Amino acid sequence: MATQWTPASWRELTAKQMPDYADPAALGAVLDKLHSFPPLVFAGEVNEMCRRLAQVAEGQAFLLQGGDCAESFAEFHPDNIRDTFRVLMQMAVVLTFGGSVPVIKVGRMAGQFAKPRSSPTEEIDGQELPIYRGDIVNGIDFDEVSRRPDPSRLLTAYSQAAATLNLLRAFAQGGYADLHKVHRWNLSFIEGTEAAARYRELCDRITEALDFMGACGIDGDSVPEMRQTDFYTSHEALLLHYEQAMTRQDTITRIGGWYDTAAHMVWVGDRTRQPDGAHVEYCRGINNPLGLKAGPSLDPDELLTLIDTLNPDNEPGRLTLICRMGADQVLEKLPPLIRAVQREGHKVIWSCDPMHGNTIKSSTGYKTRPFDRILAEVRGFFAVHQGEGSHPGGIHVEMTGRDVTECLGGAQLIDEGQLASRYHTHCDPRLNASQSLELAFLIAEMLKKQRQAVPTPATVEAIR
Ligand code: PEP
Ligand code: CO
Repeated sequence: MATQWTPASWRELTAKQMPDYADPAALGAVLDKLHSFPPLVFAGEVNEMCRRLAQVAEGQAFLLQGGDCAESFAEFHPDNIRDTFRVLMQMAVVLTFGGSVPVIKVGRMAGQFAKPRSSPTEEIDGQELPIYRGDIVNGIDFDEVSRRPDPSRLLTAYSQAAATLNLLRAFAQGGYADLHKVHRWNLSFIEGTEAAARYRELCDRITEALDFMGACGIDGDSVPEMRQTDFYTSHEALLLHYEQAMTRQDTITRIGGWYDTAAHMVWVGDRTRQPDGAHVEYCRGINNPLGLKAGPSLDPDELLTLIDTLNPDNEPGRLTLICRMGADQVLEKLPPLIRAVQREGHKVIWSCDPMHGNTIKSSTGYKTRPFDRILAEVRGFFAVHQGEGSHPGGIHVEMTGRDVTECLGGAQLIDEGQLASRYHTHCDPRLNASQSLELAFLIAEMLKKQRQAVPTPATVEAIR
């Protein structure tokens, strides 16, 4: 850790997963330009998000975070943004209504461009080139020019993020998210699936409830929250050059707080969470709510060190631990982390990323994830929290509103042979709309059970 935090203090430490830019002057010119551009989010929104997340940390709300593994310049299209937003809204409705819990909605959107990779290079037919690190760094095509890290991509990423965020704000606040329109969020291509039928039935019940409330004089005019929603953005704080250039001091209160204005929330990835590393250093100094990926190699003592660094004042809502253990390790690896956190009295949000610990290669060569294993990790996550008396506070998923075939299984029974038909991801395989909805129904049921459950000895201990 550097003694004095500044937006640039991360540069004194080891920064993993950074591209090698051949021309530092060109990079510098781009960063100066970015620094002069308007912020994408405003400090007041970030503070409000922290306040809402504090409710999750206290067990009073649920965090839904989802979107692409990697946004790409090629897939930048209003229909894609709309469809992903729409599925997140559907999932939120299922969780709110089915699980009777307020849901904080957060997209892995409007800035989720940089990817950590397991190797710095890739070799095909004897040719070795830099690995693809996400569209903000280089191109996915396997040729020398495309794979060269290009600073001008940071500017393209900024403008795509700005346009995406603009549309998301319009959807969230301009009437599209009106609860009276829940029926219209259904996507035609999932018609015929069980999840779609269950969703329609749920919409009927919501419409009935809204009609009843309307008759009692409670409607969108008296309660504007029924017509609009809060929707926040997030991404992995990986390419620190970009995050630093977007870091600004709050100009309204002028009390000196720093904000990463590239997103409301950012997280530190599983590969860059070294307590003495650059990514942790950068994140500790910003006021945004933070995520920390917790994979199976994270031991409880290291987690406690990281919590002390990232949330020294123990503010509820400041830190979300995004656990991604894998279905086969969650029961063994998660309890020691929860116990350490409880022993020290830390207030954190526990969220489940059931994607990154369950990635396999199909016999046809595709990186994929079996839907059954995703569900199994979520079940394990809830069971562990039930046993430890802690709140299973959120879910973090890679998903899209598009009708892709990237994860195996689900109600459409996608098999290995079908993966090729609509495999579009630029990085990891995503749940499609129908799988996302199915998952939301499962979680809603578990949230309901959790609330009805008789407290275990551990719960009683925690209450004392
Ligand atoms: C991701 O969220 O896309 C990611 C790379 O996750 P992790 O850091 O958990 O591996
Ligand atoms: Co991913």
